[in-house]
Amino acid sequence: MDLNETILQAIDSHGSIDSLKLADLLSVKHQAVVGALKSIQCFENVLNVEQVSRIDVKLTAEGQDMLNNGSYEYNLYKAIPADGILHTELMKSVPNAKIGFSKAMSAKWIALDKKAEGGPRVTRKVESVQDQVHSLLQKVQDLSLDDIPTQEKSDLKKRKLISEDKVTSYQISKGTAFTLTLVKPETDLTPEMIASGSWKSKTFKPLNFDAMGVMPSGGYLHPLLKIRTEYRQIFLEMGFSEMPTNNFIESSFWNFDALFQPQQHPARDAHDTFFLSNPATSSNFPEDYLQRVKKVHSVGGFGSQGYKYNWKVEEAQKNILRTHTTAVSARCLYKLGQQKEFKPVRYFSIDRVFRNETLDNTHLAEFHQIEGVIADRHEPMSANTSAYLSAGIKKLRFKPAYNPYTEPSMEIFGYHNGLKKWVEIGNSGIFRPEMLLPMGLPEDVVVIAWGLSLERPAMIKYGIDNIRDLIGPKINLAVVQENPICRLR
Ligand code: PHE
Repeated sequence: MDLNETILQAIDSHGSIDSLKLADLLSVKHQAVVGALKSIQCFENVLNVEQVSRIDVKLTAEGQDMLNNGSYEYNLYKAIPADGILHTELMKSVPNAKIGFSKAMSAKWIALDKKAEGGPRVTRKVESVQDQVHSLLQKVQDLSLDDIPTQEKSDLKKRKLISEDKVTSYQISKGTAFTLTLVKPETDLTPEMIASGSWKSKTFKPLNFDAMGVMPSGGYLHPLLKIRTEYRQIFLEMGFSEMPTNNFIESSFWNFDALFQPQQHPARDAHDTFFLSNPATSSNFPEDYLQRVKKVHSVGGFGSQGYKYNWKVEEAQKNILRTHTTAVSARCLYKLGQQKEFKPVRYFSIDRVFRNETLDNTHLAEFHQIEGVIADRHEPMSANTSAYLSAGIKKLRFKPAYNPYTEPSMEIFGYHNGLKKWVEIGNSGIFRPEMLLPMGLPEDVVVIAWGLSLERPAMIKYGIDNIRDLIGPKINLAVVQENPICRLR
């Protein structure tokens, strides 16, 4: 029979009992009883176990010796004959005579005649004495501790005849679910138990909500997220504020028309852009601004000849998946143009854009754009502002380019060591007056802007040759789990 069951049987026959007494009774170490109690307590309500603490008073070795042989002062008194004894001789006659002598003197049991003939002489001063200390020690031994006055007790302590220890034990009694046999509770509810209904008669182990969870095998930061965090940090440190990019769906108006992109431009074709079928259109545009956009496209204005074509609102209303985050920049710049007084701004955003591309090693149908916009009364920086943003990529090239909304425009290329070729990492330029003036921005305001892909620098930084290893269903999870943290600076 194991200790758990032995204990249960003992409780059954004794009722309530202290764990120390129980340990004595079973002749096992108290420690073992405590351990068994803990394991029985896993079964709810089998036992009631209450911790009790008390101070245990025990005789020290010296106290025990004194209990056996009498106190030093008593023995010394007894050693004195009726006519007294020479001090020197008395001190040799009993053990611990020195202590005994001073105790007997202060109890006025004995007297010392220093000038006696033949040397100092000790005599009894009283007829008889009682060994008080001895009877106190007897009481300690008999555990009638309440009989000992506090003063005496502290004297015994001072003489190191008794010691006090804090003792912790447990008062044990039967619980409401007391049993003599412990059935191991189930830890799992299995489909079989449910099917057979056997779960109804089983006991289940209570859930341990304090247990540590299992480390998940996933949950790694994707390289793109790490790079995004780095870029965001760089922008914030340079005083840029983040534009709200929480709309993947955009109207052609903000994505193209606001950017002076003509309605017959090839990028506005289903070959390049994803159009939405439901909802297919948007209609809520600032009317006066829409009119100014229409005018600048169809007949010109603000010093421009325009494109001279029949601008149609139906084309502007078409919903698409935004093809660039410059749509968001357009919205923000329009808002800026509505303010009474122009104040210079620096904006950025890092989010997804969608293009109907032919997929290959470096192209996906969706990617992240890092967009930056700086608006000020004069040209804020040299044209290659984006150079510092290609952080970490050492080999950079710039090439004149064309965008309907910027002049001049410049494409940025970075050298990919693995692919051994130059890959485009971004595009930039100065926004045209045909875009800014209809928004209400003052004529002398210059706005430079750029859009970088987040994936391209990630591929270059992490030496990934195929963008499909980085994102999408064919992702290489090892790349995600093993790549180091990103440092661009
Ligand atoms: N919108 C451009 C693109 O998608 C990037 C760009 C942003 C260019 C701002 C100039 C100014 O490639």
